Amino acid sequence: MSITVNYNNMMQYALGDKGISDAQLKEQEILAQSAHFLVEAGRGRGMQGWMDSPYDQAEVVKAVKSAAARIRRRFDCFVVLGIGGSALGPQAVFTALKHGYYNELPKKLRKGPRFYVLDNVDPDKMNALFDIIDLKKTVFNVITKSGSTSETMSQFLIVYDLLKARLGESAHEHIIATTDESKGNLIKLAQKEGFETFFIPDSVGGRFSELSPVGLLPAAVVGIDVSKLLKGARDMDRRCRSRYISKNPALALAVLQYVSMKQGKNISVMMPYSDRLKYIADWYAQLWAESLGKEKDKNGDVVNAGQTPVKALGVTDQHSQVQLYNEGPYDKVITFIEVGEYGSDVTIPNGCDEFPNLNFLCGHTLSELMTNELYATRYNLTLRGRANFTIRLDKVDAYHVGALLYLLQMQTAYAGAMLNINTYDQPGVEGGKDATYALFGRSGYEKKAEEMRSAKPDSEKYII
Ligand code: PA5
Repeated sequence: MSITVNYNNMMQYALGDKGISDAQLKEQEILAQSAHFLVEAGRGRGMQGWMDSPYDQAEVVKAVKSAAARIRRRFDCFVVLGIGGSALGPQAVFTALKHGYYNELPKKLRKGPRFYVLDNVDPDKMNALFDIIDLKKTVFNVITKSGSTSETMSQFLIVYDLLKARLGESAHEHIIATTDESKGNLIKLAQKEGFETFFIPDSVGGRFSELSPVGLLPAAVVGIDVSKLLKGARDMDRRCRSRYISKNPALALAVLQYVSMKQGKNISVMMPYSDRLKYIADWYAQLWAESLGKEKDKNGDVVNAGQTPVKALGVTDQHSQVQLYNEGPYDKVITFIEVGEYGSDVTIPNGCDEFPNLNFLCGHTLSELMTNELYATRYNLTLRGRANFTIRLDKVDAYHVGALLYLLQMQTAYAGAMLNINTYDQPGVEGGKDATYALFGRSGYEKKAEEMRSAKPDSEKYII
């Protein structure tokens, strides 16, 4: 396993009095070990079925690979319809592991169908997609754990209606449903219409589902080795069996984030130095925000827990956000993601000898520039007492990406246990959903509609 976690720059050792002392870390040892115990005790139970994903999917992998081979032969476009945990993972893994301009590659080089993720209900975006795909050559993978999410089901209804109008009886062959085996509307529709289906285990929630058929099918369709993704997760899981923070990287990260939260560092920045990993930061933002952002702990006490995730990209955001990280409030922990070996390289040519302030770059590669800029940014932040740590991947391949996803899921599970909150629910989003239903006049939401009607209207005074 060649993923390392370097947390020197979280500690007093590097940050002086702005850092965490060895003694402070030691104080958390019992809490960390009990978090580890709780997470292990829940392995495969409740909503922790995701911890079995690296181990118990031989049949799923077989089915996914065979479906992927069929799809690759028959279709030119593969479109994921989903939102939240049902879309962020497929997008993140695709971006990490496929060519940066995959869809634009000629078919001979691309080898698989073009790949799109529709994770919103913006009509302009949807119509734009219809402008560039040929329905006859497109398959839609509708992904929804609950089988009832309004956004995903709206996308599905629109697409299926179009398919039926254009293709008649064969329309159902263009839909693959990934959903719960028995709950929700999608499975009922799938059974009625005869869609091919993949099941998300009951014990795997949306944001923890990337290593289930949610992520495995889209990945396999574009030619990613899903067995290697799972192998990476498995090897990371082995490292997480230790209850010692000196051995378990996810536990170390969770403890450091926990102590930081207690110190008022309420923002968690993820900054990969790789365009390929850009959407891992998006995926992590949902995982971290929705899992830890909770009003009450398990005792019912108001704790308003959580850390606000911020997505940044190295080096791009050095010219956008890093000024704030260096000189703004001491309220952030920055997770750098370093890549040891990029997939390819480009050399900056010679030829600007007359410009001394440019020629220092000549003969160096872009990967050197990227890496040195990471080191320089990190050095400067550390000098200013800014908490940061680095997750380093030897390279961005299926094995390391599987391990990285699993590491971050474990970190989240431990942090949730340390905060004594329910990591796996999301009661905060229900209010917004109910209000949407009420606005649409959905039956059963009359009381909510009444409450909204009698709410204070906007005052003209504050509209200019
Ligand atoms: O993590 C979660 O459970 C949520 O963010 C879901 O992923 C999101 O709401 C989509 O839900 P579903 O997959 O049921 O359509």
